[in-house]
Amino acid sequence: MRRSWLLQLILTSFLLLSYVNNGIAGLTSTFIRSEWPSIDIPIDNEAFVVPKGHNAPQQVHITQGDYDGKAVIISWVTTDEPGISKVQYGTSENKYEFTAEGTVRNYTFYKYKSGYIHHCLVDGLEHDTKYYYKIGTGESSREFWFQTPPKINPDASYKFGIIGDLGQTYNSLSTLKHYMQSGGQTVLFVGDLSYADRYSYNDVGIRWDSWGRFAERSAAYQPWIWSAGNHEIEYMPYMGEVVPFKSYLQRYPTPHLASKSSSPLWYAIRRASAHIIVLSSYSPFVKYTPQYKWLAEELKKVDREKTPWLIVLMHVPIYNSNEAHFMEGESMRAVFESWFVHYKVDVIFAGHVHAYERSYRISNIHYNISNGDHYPIPDKFAPVYITVGDGGNQEGLAGRFQDPQPDYSAFREASYGHSTLEIKNRTHALYHWNRNDDGKKVATDSFILHNQYWGSSHRRRKLKKHYLSSVVEQIVTY
Ligand SMILES: [Fe+2]
Repeated sequence: MRRSWLLQLILTSFLLLSYVNNGIAGLTSTFIRSEWPSIDIPIDNEAFVVPKGHNAPQQVHITQGDYDGKAVIISWVTTDEPGISKVQYGTSENKYEFTAEGTVRNYTFYKYKSGYIHHCLVDGLEHDTKYYYKIGTGESSREFWFQTPPKINPDASYKFGIIGDLGQTYNSLSTLKHYMQSGGQTVLFVGDLSYADRYSYNDVGIRWDSWGRFAERSAAYQPWIWSAGNHEIEYMPYMGEVVPFKSYLQRYPTPHLASKSSSPLWYAIRRASAHIIVLSSYSPFVKYTPQYKWLAEELKKVDREKTPWLIVLMHVPIYNSNEAHFMEGESMRAVFESWFVHYKVDVIFAGHVHAYERSYRISNIHYNISNGDHYPIPDKFAPVYITVGDGGNQEGLAGRFQDPQPDYSAFREASYGHSTLEIKNRTHALYHWNRNDDGKKVATDSFILHNQYWGSSHRRRKLKKHYLSSVVEQIVTY
């Protein structure tokens, strides 16, 4: 009698446990897409078209040029001669009221000699305004446009795209074209741009140039917020090139001085209602290093009353359950995870792993090497970790996930794609991961992201009161 009671108890607990486990279990998508081969597009393909004319500007790209979005850095390359480093710009087409002067430089990489690389800061812009700009001279001049973001405002809506590990294959082109249909206003790029380091000798520089022409279709018209990945390091002693990030730093400037960073590899910007922090997985970050000290100060500067959305970009994911690059983010997790939880970071985007994965809100901040707490646990103050290293480069997909799926992993799928984060107001944002699916854009993983700061019941009550008083004010005014 007692034995059967015990048996029943064990059975019930087992059923209950399996129910609980299934209740929180993550999903591994079994979708297998047919992909194009992971080879780079041939250099003479129209995807890399060289603009016509003597010394015509090519590889045009822009990034935010200051802390709050009233400046852009415009970059381009001329190949025949230095030419002039001037940008003409204005608020109506074909009417360029203003000019800005930039700088020009070039560099060598083995025997490759780069074109003339121009960088021009255009500042003092109005918020929320469309600007037209013109670079180059005479018949070879080229015209583009961009839209500045709204003024820093807690309820400003804004749509970011997130792309990582892009490369220059047919899959890369598909990802980029899908993103360009998404209505995204700024790209948060999580590292590994051109994969030029997969080539040798002069071809490294040549493939940086082709990637610049490839990305121009988007990057000339909206800012790409850059972060560096391992493919930017280019430590290639066999050809005498040992200065890390040489090509990347020459070509892709960032506004690091605006956030008082000592390196272009880590910095922060504010845009609309978001505070975006860019970290470098491949620069020192342990205690006392410049990146560590800088991040400690930058996190203190975040004002969620002005920029409710706190977003961090890095190349190496902290939570990743793919066999590829498993636990490579562990060193950064050990150093920074408690800060991410303390400051209630909303979301952390990373790349590196050529697949898509999203975590639950979890943390492992109680772990130290002498206690028994060595598993991540649910933590409502922790960020959501999202890996979007699935841009489509020549290394192909990372199709082997750890089995069983760890509890921290919510959704994972080995397909190419990109994400969008559409901030609606201070409390809500819509998130989508869009798989490249045989030429169609398919929203595969979507959810509503609740703001980590404004989501607390105390602040929501405060907000309700604020809205109520503003409504009453309006009624009184009319
Ligand atoms: Fe990588």
